[in-house]
Amino acid sequence: MAPFSASSPLMKFSFVVGFFLTAYAGNFYQDFDLTWGDGRAKILNNGQRLTLSLDKASGSGFQSKNEYLFGNIDMQLKLVPGNSAGTVTAYYLSSKGATWDEIDFEFLGNLSGDPYILHTNVFTQGKGNREQQFYLWFDPTADFHTYSILWNPKLIIFSVDGTPIREFKNLESDGIPFPKNQPMRIYSSLWNADDWATRGGLVKTNWSNAPFTASYRNFNAKACVWGNGASSCSSSSSSSSSSNNNAWLSQELDITGQRRLKWVQKNYMIYNYCTDTKRFPQGLPSECKMS
Ligand SMILES: *[C@@H]1O[C@H](CO)[C@@H](O)[C@H](O)[C@H]1NC(C)=O
Repeated sequence: MAPFSASSPLMKFSFVVGFFLTAYAGNFYQDFDLTWGDGRAKILNNGQRLTLSLDKASGSGFQSKNEYLFGNIDMQLKLVPGNSAGTVTAYYLSSKGATWDEIDFEFLGNLSGDPYILHTNVFTQGKGNREQQFYLWFDPTADFHTYSILWNPKLIIFSVDGTPIREFKNLESDGIPFPKNQPMRIYSSLWNADDWATRGGLVKTNWSNAPFTASYRNFNAKACVWGNGASSCSSSSSSSSSSNNNAWLSQELDITGQRRLKWVQKNYMIYNYCTDTKRFPQGLPSECKMS
């Protein structure tokens, strides 16, 4: 509750009221900590909005207060507009330690009018190398759009405005590790990556456009919060109202979802590690042969 520690009684009152009204809509003060960037990360509008900024001296970032072991997590982002070449906005889930798991969205900026790249990756037990990249079917800087991660024991689905763009299935029975034992936090950061991001580092960040700003709103997590070695889902799964709320825990892609996923992959995917035979001369990663 640090943001409220110095607040007036009136602010405390509005916080209490606001808590009951917005408990399910998410509030950046309640759900996140600003972790770096020395004032470049800001929470605005009573916790309804968050912005990250980047200038020549530093980027900025935030992370969730909670750790989660599975979740259906939505966030709306509006990315750095104009000439954003060289900037990267990363939004991801990650656990800790040398054999960490990670589920990544990264948005690679571009020159004005040129398309962003949405870069995705999945790390299991410290090993990634599972990149897939996409163009988007809209301008992600003109308005907010919803970027979602559904992570349950069966699969991981990345979605954009409700359209699935990537699926990573649990293929543990085929010997492929799947993230399911390590709780993860949500992280986001805006930073300068002009050594690689835009056309492989050919286009440099133009600092005369700084500060660069990305905005966040409408965080919404149906998720199992991890604490003291236990999951909030296992304690409540016996009551009938919560089993309804927990439908996402066993959700899979339906026929419509599969069709939409194919549409995105056919029309908007620009890189897929699973087809990069040059990169894997010894043979493609085993999960590529199973889907
Ligand atoms: C930037 O635009 C160029 C030209 O359209 C495109 O080739 C590239 O994939 C775009 N994205 C990045 C991050 O370089």
